[in-house]
Amino acid sequence: MNNLKLREDQLAWANETLAKTAEKLEKVSRRSAHKIPYTTVDGVHDDKSNGRDVGWWTNGFWGGMMWQLYRLTGDESYRAIAEENEKKLDADLMDYEMLDHDNGFKWLPTAVADYRTTGSAASRNRGLLAACNLAGRYNTAGRFIRAWNDWEDGGRDHRGWAIIDCMMNLPLLYWAAEETGDPRFSQIARSHADTAQRVFVRGDGSVRHIVEFDPVTGEFVRDYGGQGFGEGSSWTRGQAWGLYGFALSYLHTGNRAYLETSERIANYFLANVPASGLVPVDFRQPEDVSWEDSTAAAIAACGLIELAKQTEGRQSSLYLDGAIRMLRALAEHSFDWNGETDCLLTKCTAAYHDAAHEFSIIYGDYYFLEAMMKLTGKELFIW
Ligand code: GLY
Repeated sequence: MNNLKLREDQLAWANETLAKTAEKLEKVSRRSAHKIPYTTVDGVHDDKSNGRDVGWWTNGFWGGMMWQLYRLTGDESYRAIAEENEKKLDADLMDYEMLDHDNGFKWLPTAVADYRTTGSAASRNRGLLAACNLAGRYNTAGRFIRAWNDWEDGGRDHRGWAIIDCMMNLPLLYWAAEETGDPRFSQIARSHADTAQRVFVRGDGSVRHIVEFDPVTGEFVRDYGGQGFGEGSSWTRGQAWGLYGFALSYLHTGNRAYLETSERIANYFLANVPASGLVPVDFRQPEDVSWEDSTAAAIAACGLIELAKQTEGRQSSLYLDGAIRMLRALAEHSFDWNGETDCLLTKCTAAYHDAAHEFSIIYGDYYFLEAMMKLTGKELFIW
């Protein structure tokens, strides 16, 4: 079912692009069947399956791509690859130090997708354990979910740190509340979303990346530029996490304040996308820097498509057209259509101040595929 109002030419483009994407991914999935990829080296997927790499926050996206392709085609080989990815993550689930707030990113596209698709009891168990651990990161004084552990990001004291990305992890708690009938999970999710709405979202609709609270009193301490250009800047992937994350909190709770917040971020985002439709790493990066982040475009497109479903008339068309404009720009300018290489998007950037920019990253590919599945009405809903 697709309640989106795509024009005929838009739907034709979406169907054709999804078919081409799936055709490439069929070859990629055979080559990378036993990996958990993050990026590509000379066109070949790397593998995060082993050692401490198994705790890397992006390790659910490959499984998520396989579940989407299983939904699209019914081909059992995709299901087998997704299940292998999910089982490998048990090493992470059993290691307290490796678990952080990214449990949603890891177990919604793997264990919970599996449970929703097959009804697997083992997968339900994994999803609920991950949700309990995420709920345990809640700070009752500051009413936020702690993001990172102290060994991450240079060994700083992270007890009071929360980040906008966490909005995308909250759906694991909404799912657990529904699954168990225990409201504590969604109380924690709503409480964190309320704090994020109050503290992270600026008056102009842009969002901060990192906020530090006093972990004992819960008082606001300061914010950080995080993976963006700097303090007061506007890291585009963070804007996209906020846009999509608040839309999802609205979807799960019906609280219209979250919808309004998502729309404010969306309106800000769309007003800042350049005419090319290609999204920079930070909307406030210096004018002579041209680095792009394809992941931000793909994630924002998914959020905008959800908003298009939740709104009506001109506003709904604005969101849908904005999403399609960015996806078309990616497909035309920042996409590797060669079936002999392993990535889809080519201009992803993890962080503005990293040494490397504009390379392939698995979550860019995941959200591009999810966006195409949404546009064509074929999506397995993950979040
Ligand atoms: N959630 C981490 C990132 O977006 O890079």
